[in-house]
Amino acid sequence: MKPALKIVVTGGAGFIGSAVVRHLIGSTDWKVVNVDKLTYAGNLDSVASVAENPRYKFVKLDIGDSEAVRRLLEAERPDAIMHLAAESHVDRSIDGPSFFIETNIVGTYRLLENAWRYWRDLDAEKKSALRFHHVSTDEVYGSLGETGSFHEGSPYRPNSPYSASKAASDHLARAWFHTYGLPVVVSNCSNNYGPCQFPEKLISLTIVRALEGKSLPIYGKGENVRDWLYVEDHARALEAVLRRGRPGEVYNIGGNAEKRNIDIVRMVCALLDEMLPQSVHRPHSRLIEFVTDRPGHDLRYAIDASKIRSELGWQPSESFESGLRKTVRWYLDNRRWWERVLSGAYRGERLGLGI
Ligand SMILES: NC(=O)c1ccc[n+]([C@@H]2O[C@H](COP(=O)([O-])OP(=O)(O)OC[C@H]3O[C@@H](n4cnc5c(N)ncnc54)[C@H](O)[C@@H]3O)[C@@H](O)[C@H]2O)c1
Repeated sequence: MKPALKIVVTGGAGFIGSAVVRHLIGSTDWKVVNVDKLTYAGNLDSVASVAENPRYKFVKLDIGDSEAVRRLLEAERPDAIMHLAAESHVDRSIDGPSFFIETNIVGTYRLLENAWRYWRDLDAEKKSALRFHHVSTDEVYGSLGETGSFHEGSPYRPNSPYSASKAASDHLARAWFHTYGLPVVVSNCSNNYGPCQFPEKLISLTIVRALEGKSLPIYGKGENVRDWLYVEDHARALEAVLRRGRPGEVYNIGGNAEKRNIDIVRMVCALLDEMLPQSVHRPHSRLIEFVTDRPGHDLRYAIDASKIRSELGWQPSESFESGLRKTVRWYLDNRRWWERVLSGAYRGERLGLGI
């Protein structure tokens, strides 16, 4: 019998990374080494359900620390690297771009460089099997008008420091494939939502603030449109890309669920009204408050996910309605998770207007 694969997941204490770690431990026989610096967005509570599993291991590490990354790869000798570690919040990138340059660009470079050195010296069989999976976002493609959708060949037009730093890291990943032969696969995904999302992004922030009876801020008129994907569907897509994706290829991942921000907030409010019939904050929609728009706010993103569907046989299993219902339920049932998060450094302050 072949030994189980060992996967290094960077950023595995974050929102999507923790879903990937839980999914890989729960649905495969793979070993998972979760490598995370534990920034404000990293939370080991999110992987508590797998922490005692003998196939799981956590290593606290900054991907920008080249020597530590080198030692990790030598010690663990993984079969694949799934790279999710990043600074991920657009508003924070507007207030302080340097962390985004450091982690998303320089950190990815250091990881690629060390992965390449590790890969170069492997025996032929392990060398051809290794994958470096770079996980990225649809925000690299910029903003769409009323129609159309992003496909894998869409030009890169990032508009925020966050998306520019992710675009740069995508280019580095591509270059390490074309120039050095490292077997890189890249995936670009639309907005994720689901359990364990730090309460600073639209859906998690709205749920948590509504539960506390606080105002629900909506940028501009709330007409910005995003495509939304339930995080566990993303985790399954990433497994498919890792297993069957072809080196050098890019796969767009999306939920086929375009929604305006205002409609999402209203849906969250309606679900809370239904699930909390005794709440003094009902109807929760009266907490909605329109605030000054984010600078350079992209109007619309939409993803054409036909390539991953036809080539890798993946499609989302949750509709937006079913995924949102599960998400709201999760925040109701896991108050301790988000209360502990909120008692930390982050206090839900308004970010991104300090320019
Ligand atoms: N959230 C989304 O909607 C979305 C959509 C598409 C793509 N992505 C991409 O998916 C990845 C994960 O996103 P997320 O929403 O889970 O982010 P997140 O902010 O919730 O988590 C990021 C994780 O990376 C860790 N990290 C940050 N800097 C690090 C460093 N220097 N070294 C090691 N670990 C570090 C953090 O501690 C945290 O655990 C990112 O690359 C992001 O660009 C996110």
